[in-house]
Amino acid sequence: MPTHKLLLLAGDGIGPEVMAEVKKLIAWMNSHGMGTFKYEEDLVGGCCYDAHKVAVTDATMAKAHASDAVIFGAVGGPKWDNVPFDARPEAGLLRLRKELGLFANIRPAVTYPALADASSLKRELVEGLDIVILRELTGGVYFGEPKTITDLGNGQKRAVDTQVYDTYEIERISRVAFELARARKKLNKVTSMEKRNVMKTGVLWHEVVSAIHQREFKDVTLEHQLADSGGMQLVRNPKQFDVVVTDNLFGDMLSDISAMLTGSLGMLASASLGELDPKTRKRKSMYEPVHGSAPDIAGKGVANPIAMIASFGMALRYSLGMGREADLIDQAIAAALARGLRTADIMSEGGKRVGTTEMGDAVIAEFGKLAAS
Ligand code: IPM
Ligand code: MG
Repeated sequence: MPTHKLLLLAGDGIGPEVMAEVKKLIAWMNSHGMGTFKYEEDLVGGCCYDAHKVAVTDATMAKAHASDAVIFGAVGGPKWDNVPFDARPEAGLLRLRKELGLFANIRPAVTYPALADASSLKRELVEGLDIVILRELTGGVYFGEPKTITDLGNGQKRAVDTQVYDTYEIERISRVAFELARARKKLNKVTSMEKRNVMKTGVLWHEVVSAIHQREFKDVTLEHQLADSGGMQLVRNPKQFDVVVTDNLFGDMLSDISAMLTGSLGMLASASLGELDPKTRKRKSMYEPVHGSAPDIAGKGVANPIAMIASFGMALRYSLGMGREADLIDQAIAAALARGLRTADIMSEGGKRVGTTEMGDAVIAEFGKLAAS
């Protein structure tokens, strides 16, 4: 069995609490012959700023480059509201994404059967929902230059962010979208979302996605929606979608919307992937829950660890060649939920309220049962 080298970056807020459940799962798998994982842990975000005055250190970046996968918790919190912009907790996350070249952010929104009633939408709209928001992650307005606030000297300031996309960036994310749609074997459909009615980047986005479709993926259905109306469609009739591909900023918003369709932000995992290295056949990768650091509930032991555990599951699937084990993790989560266990964020009538560690233990117990059967 190959040894998998992981870097765990738990971060701030509830990050360390939910990461603790992943560590338990790793220990369980190591001791039951279900993989050989080695991991190192390091600081990122606000806690790293407190220790080193930066949101991520060069040494940690080097470890991230050398690992088979980075498992990331969450960063940020009110404590760091006034630190310099370049050292804010989120800057650590953005540096990891950018320097590892993680341009493809896969954010599945899957409604677990037991949770169909926890959604703010009607059960029939979300029952059986299984869609993916594919977000471009290293371009657009997040990284475009100039990005400045200038004093105009007349009592006014001017803030500028720059939305910029080159053809190659749109081509490579489009390819991931079409390949995903093919591999999922669901509706075999990609919906591209942009604002070509207002933005030049939208015009180019539309043109390039269409061209890649024509050239390489005619067997997949391609639809285009303007991002605002796409957001509306996501809550009107989410099951019309299969893979939604969109830019960095729209993807940030649309993935939070999709997350809520499934009942709670605490349920959603994500994978961020780089380009396939033709020599090693590997990609740089990072796995993180879509939820943030939730400072309001940090340290109380009530956070939902499912998104974090499911993110580890995605690492098994996309980086470590352990698809079977990844399936078992998904099934174990569904089984724990089917037993009626609920953290506060997904609590509903008749559920049994549990904390972070109990939920983690339950998922590991179900995983053990499934692995043995
Ligand atoms: C996300 C988060 C991040 C983002 C923040 C924490 C910088 O909202 O991963 O969706 O905006 O990308
Ligand atoms: Mg976000």
